[in-house]
Amino acid sequence: MSDRNIVPPRFFMFCVVVIATLLLVLYSSFLLHLSDHSFIPRSVLELVFVNNTSHDFKPSFKREQITPPPLNSQGSKVQPQRCQLSNSSQKSNSPTQMGKMACDTTLALLRVFMYDLPPEFHFGLLNWKETANQTWPDVNNPKLVPPYPGGLNLQHSVEYWLTLDLLSSNIAKVFRPCSAIRVQNASQANVVFVPFFSSLSYNQHSKIHGKEKVSINKMLQERLVQFLMGREEWKRSGGRDHVIVAHHPNSMVHARRKLGSSILVLADFGRYPSKIANIQKDIIAPYRHLVNTTPRAESASYEERSTLLYFQGTIYRKAGGAVRHELYYLLKDEKDVHFTFGSTRRNGIQQASQGMALSKFCLNIAGDTPSSNRLFDAIVSHCVPVIISDKIELPFEDVLDYSEFSLFIRASDAVRKGYLLNLLRSIKQEKWTKMWERLKNITQHFEYQYPSQPRDAVNMIWEEVAHKIPSLQLNLHRKNRYQRS
Ligand SMILES: *[C@@H]1O[C@H](CO)[C@@H](O)[C@H](O)[C@H]1NC(C)=O
Ligand SMILES: *[C@@H]1O[C@H](CO)[C@@H](O)[C@H](O)[C@H]1NC(C)=O
Ligand SMILES: *[C@@H]1O[C@H](CO)[C@@H](O)[C@H](O)[C@H]1NC(C)=O
Ligand SMILES: *[C@@H]1O[C@H](CO)[C@@H](O)[C@H](O)[C@H]1NC(C)=O
Ligand SMILES: *[C@@H]1O[C@H](CO)[C@@H](O)[C@H](O)[C@H]1NC(C)=O
Ligand SMILES: *[C@@H]1O[C@H](CO)[C@@H](O)[C@H](O)[C@H]1NC(C)=O
Repeated sequence: MSDRNIVPPRFFMFCVVVIATLLLVLYSSFLLHLSDHSFIPRSVLELVFVNNTSHDFKPSFKREQITPPPLNSQGSKVQPQRCQLSNSSQKSNSPTQMGKMACDTTLALLRVFMYDLPPEFHFGLLNWKETANQTWPDVNNPKLVPPYPGGLNLQHSVEYWLTLDLLSSNIAKVFRPCSAIRVQNASQANVVFVPFFSSLSYNQHSKIHGKEKVSINKMLQERLVQFLMGREEWKRSGGRDHVIVAHHPNSMVHARRKLGSSILVLADFGRYPSKIANIQKDIIAPYRHLVNTTPRAESASYEERSTLLYFQGTIYRKAGGAVRHELYYLLKDEKDVHFTFGSTRRNGIQQASQGMALSKFCLNIAGDTPSSNRLFDAIVSHCVPVIISDKIELPFEDVLDYSEFSLFIRASDAVRKGYLLNLLRSIKQEKWTKMWERLKNITQHFEYQYPSQPRDAVNMIWEEVAHKIPSLQLNLHRKNRYQRS
């Protein structure tokens, strides 16, 4: 291809400049710790102000004049049966266990020991001020739980939801499924959880201030490594049974090599060597979606979704993202395609929220990392994801068959003229509706909430951790063969 062919028109250049400026402003606002004053709509922020009475999020976004579509009773695809670790785990998600008792250690799917790290590693990063000798906030009353900062931070908030869930697992008042329970003695635990809010630490404390030699983010990571290396629990297994959350692709950069033996909870493997992170030992967790969940009964049907294909995002990205650029030129003039520059500003998210909820298909194209929150925004909008990201890793794929509710297209095919739209137009209403029905059923697996709910993202992640235990045990036992004698 000659250079001349890819010289963008003036309009495009203009937009690139605008986007770049926006990104710069956004980025600096993170660095300046301004992200609390974020550009995100209030409704998104409110989701983190958890409420003890609200077991379901009832998103405030309402679309006008959309009658609830009839439920399709013939979408008879049965929910996949979870592979159960033991007999006791079958009880773990049953409603009887979500009652007034605290979770019973013997019934829990997973027994978790959590280090009492000082607050500066976790809730201290949320500006929670401990009173004398207190390590953890009182989670008894969810109204008093420190909220996680909104905006783009929220995408990587899995660290917060998992920690809260463990804290509440010993409290009878909090209604939650009994999948993970916190135990006080590490020798009774299946895994050891490291409660470091690494994504928030990266997002808010990467900058060096004044006379500091290293950033707080780096300092915390160094101290964490030092702490772990000194612990019996770590030495016992070489860290293999430790669960460390590093969801932001840039979090834990200073510590990841030293802590790479542990079970990492990540967004994708894009920025990791495969020795440190791989699907055998690690867990892919969903991004926390930024758009509001479309309530099941309000989900627009095939005819009501006037846009065929929706994409809003930054168009010009590095490396793996070049395909965005090419697709833009293929699709920008199509009538029923929405392919525009978007921003994460107030309007950006609100527009995406409405746009996705009224589109049949939503594009998910590789950006500068293989994953992005856009996929999860599409899922909770019940907009069938079209995934063009050859190296993407998907959360819970051992349990969910994404092909039942998404389309996968190789990047090399997607950039062929006419290929994508011909394919999408050839998908009949009946087939689309089947995928839509499936989407509505699996949306719950992508919701982070406190208290956690059966089969939500928090509990799905605990189940994924539980799935890692047999191979973990096998490796540990093999390692012990000659060490014990
Ligand atoms: C929290 O619960 C109260 C009632 O106890 C309710 O009025 C309020 O709207 C709830 N807030 C949210 C964000 O759900
Ligand atoms: C929610 O918290 C309030 C106190 O803020 C308490 O009175 C109420 O019983 C709680 N509701 C539930 C369902 O725990
Ligand atoms: C969705 O869930 C309902 C209730 O569990 C079930 O009857 C239906 O078959 C499911 N449909 C699909 C497509 O998964
Ligand atoms: C599973 O648990 C139930 C009730 O606790 C018990 O009756 C049954 O025998 C158990 N099954 C196995 C295979 O252990
Ligand atoms: C904090 O803990 C230390 C040691 O456990 C104890 O000596 C001290 O009195 C405690 N301080 C308060 C204010 O409880
Ligand atoms: C933890 O449990 C082990 C074995 O059950 C026991 O030997 C040890 O004393 C316990 N540790 C604590 C701090 O209770």
